[in-house]
Amino acid sequence: MKSLCLLAGLLLVNSYALAEPFKTGDASAGKALVEKNCISCHASSFGGDGSAIYTRDYRKVKSAKGLVAQIRNCNTMLDLKWFEDEELNVAKYLNQTYYKFTE
Ligand code: HEC
Repeated sequence: MKSLCLLAGLLLVNSYALAEPFKTGDASAGKALVEKNCISCHASSFGGDGSAIYTRDYRKVKSAKGLVAQIRNCNTMLDLKWFEDEELNVAKYLNQTYYKFTE
């Protein structure tokens, strides 16, 4: 019985991990960073608030890993000098709001 409980516990932990690829990020900090640095340019090419760039059918980002890589590219291209935790905050925010990758 004891080991069954342990197993159930492990499965639960595992499914949480799958549901949220960016556990340590702070989504509201990420939102503020995106609003400050990222929206105007996306909005000028995609209209509205620019978020269509994340939801278009032919979007480039296909995985949580890809999302981090893309954020890093933009960070470097724009010379924002974000730290890794800031990239993670942004990844968490964009994932929760638009991409919804589960792993
Ligand atoms: C100077 C303009 C510009 C700025 C500023 C900019 N981006 Fe982008 N971004 C683009 C363009 C253009 C694309 C589309 C690239 C493509 O389709 O090949 C893009 C694509 C993306 C994508 C991928 C969308 C997809 O297809 O899934 C993400 C994620 C993204 N940007 C994040 C950011 C973040 C985060 C910032 C702020 C740090 C940022 N961008 C700032 C121009 C910009």
